[in-house]
Amino acid sequence: PRPILLTRHGESQDNVRGRIGGDPALRARRCRPSKIYRTGDPLDMILELDLHICILMLPFHDFEHLTLPNRKHSLHIWTSTLQRTILTAGPIGGFPKIQWRALDEIDAGVCDGMTYEEIKKNMPEEYESRKKDKLRYRYPRGESYLDVIQRLEPVIIELERQRAPVVVVSHQAVLRALYAYFTDRPLKEIPHMEVPLHTIIEIELGVTGVQEKRYKLM
Ligand code: F6P
Repeated sequence: PRPILLTRHGESQDNVRGRIGGDPALRARRCRPSKIYRTGDPLDMILELDLHICILMLPFHDFEHLTLPNRKHSLHIWTSTLQRTILTAGPIGGFPKIQWRALDEIDAGVCDGMTYEEIKKNMPEEYESRKKDKLRYRYPRGESYLDVIQRLEPVIIELERQRAPVVVVSHQAVLRALYAYFTDRPLKEIPHMEVPLHTIIEIELGVTGVQEKRYKLM
């Protein structure tokens, strides 16, 4: 069985402020270098999901004995084109990385950069329509969940063709859709599924079905 690991980017400035969309950087945090980092670059300041990525690699490797050629073939890292996912995977060297526009977060159109409270206050009809049918609701000049699901098709085809484990570092709406696809969940559940920050969802596609494990990182 070949695992697919789904994880959101590290916490961003906008996550902290409750703003949706945008292209914010990660919130920097000072972390104690973990055991894993002893074999890697001595990083003083690391961004929080860099650490997550290291942790999620643990099931695959004994980091103490890792050699570069092995690492190159062992794992692929896919991100969106938004800096919060790229930065998340940033300092982890030695693995092939691909940026996919199709992994970018749902486009909130005219609501990009707003908080849910601001949308409710300034655009109450939009807020209500989304609440009524979150799956089909399309942000003005933006996307719906159905749009996101459609644009993920090439990503899913590639994911299914991969022989190496893939780590997908993406965003809430996109990961809901990917997760639902691989775990065979109904469309209507997608916009409401739990894909929290600081969590790695490991999905193993075996012949007898799908196995799932969640790693909480904070
Ligand atoms: O709040 C983080 C975020 O990734 C936003 O950028 C995005 O609009 C939102 O989550 C998607 O979640 P929901 O569909 O529940 O609003």
